[in-house]
Amino acid sequence: MSIDLDEATMSAVPTRIPTARTVLMCKPSYFTVVYRINPYMDPALPTDTALAVAQWQTLYDTYVGLGFDVHLIDPIEGLPDMVYAANGGFVIDNIAYGAKFTYPERQPEGPAYMDWFRSADFDVREPVETNEGEGDFLLVGDVILAGTGFRTASNSHVELAEIYGRPVITLNLINPSFYHLDTAIAVLDPGAADGNIAYLPSAFDEPSLEILRTRYPDAVIVSEEDAAILGLNSFSDGYNVVIASRAKDFERQLRERGYNPIGVDLSELLLGGGGVKCCTLELRR
Ligand code: ARG
Repeated sequence: MSIDLDEATMSAVPTRIPTARTVLMCKPSYFTVVYRINPYMDPALPTDTALAVAQWQTLYDTYVGLGFDVHLIDPIEGLPDMVYAANGGFVIDNIAYGAKFTYPERQPEGPAYMDWFRSADFDVREPVETNEGEGDFLLVGDVILAGTGFRTASNSHVELAEIYGRPVITLNLINPSFYHLDTAIAVLDPGAADGNIAYLPSAFDEPSLEILRTRYPDAVIVSEEDAAILGLNSFSDGYNVVIASRAKDFERQLRERGYNPIGVDLSELLLGGGGVKCCTLELRR
């Protein structure tokens, strides 16, 4: 009996099924870099707001093209980071846990996003503890991975667990270049109970790394190079994974595993320290 190697290889690649996604985005009409709250930001470098808007529009159009239900919150003048909608809160089961930002420059965004959640009929929970929403909270299967170390306070992980009644796993971030959890972990299979992730090991302390290795033995490990341009800061529907177009090795790994990576260039928004996922807040009814 002979084995057709090609067929064996082919069948090893799983079939990925896209799932419907509903997201909130904020047009970067007032985007610029005038303060520095992460290592990517340099107020001395020029920014091009029109280019930021054009690049963001490509992301928006990509999502619409994938059939996502995309909602928009109005940008507010004087809040240049509002484009990074992921930080505006965390939404599961129709409950929106509001954000309470670390730095004063972004603090007015918290109430602005909570107003939007209220207007869209979400059950809003005002935060007591400092947290930067989906930037540091990622739903994987039925557990919430929660980052801390630079922005989100670990006390908020307790608040989060009480609100949603789901297990919350604390992960410690140790590299200032990966200051939000969504810069160090990508969720690949949203909605799937046993969903996989991609991550950058060096972004975590040893105990956190041990948790990740144990829970996700088949995780995609990305290169330092791809992570440095926020390649992990991506958004997946379970089949299509929208990633930074420059993250070539991540793209190859995704393809090998049966995903459909779609590259988008958000170079201008990288000047603010954000990428694809930062511009995307998932709304789960
Ligand atoms: N300039 C923003 C900040 O430092 C970028 C936020 C990026 N967002 C994210 N979800 N990682 O807060």
